Amino acid sequence: MEIKIEVTDREGVKHELEAPTDMALNLMEVFKSYELPVEGTCGGMALCASCHCYILSEHSLKEASDDEEDMLDQAFFVESNSRLSCQIRMSESLDGLRVKLAPSSD
Ligand code: FES
Repeated sequence: MEIKIEVTDREGVKHELEAPTDMALNLMEVFKSYELPVEGTCGGMALCASCHCYILSEHSLKEASDDEEDMLDQAFFVESNSRLSCQIRMSESLDGLRVKLAPSSD
């Protein structure tokens, strides 16, 4: 199925994205497929934090792994709802997810 995700970019503009749940995509890859300014420098290995985003809706996500927590510890502008979007796998339970891109660290 396709799920809908609303993302607010760094200029405050909202984008409605659609993502398939059967392709093992993560949220960083979905951002990139819509040409949002998310670099994903490490290719989704939880090693760069360029895919940092904030989760705005109340969806219950899989808990962050130790690798993700470690990377977020070193990232800038971290909030309690911070996640690395490359660690969020698309699934039906994420339909209607609302997220915001974190500021770029450069
Ligand atoms: Fe590098 Fe997500 S793409 S941490």
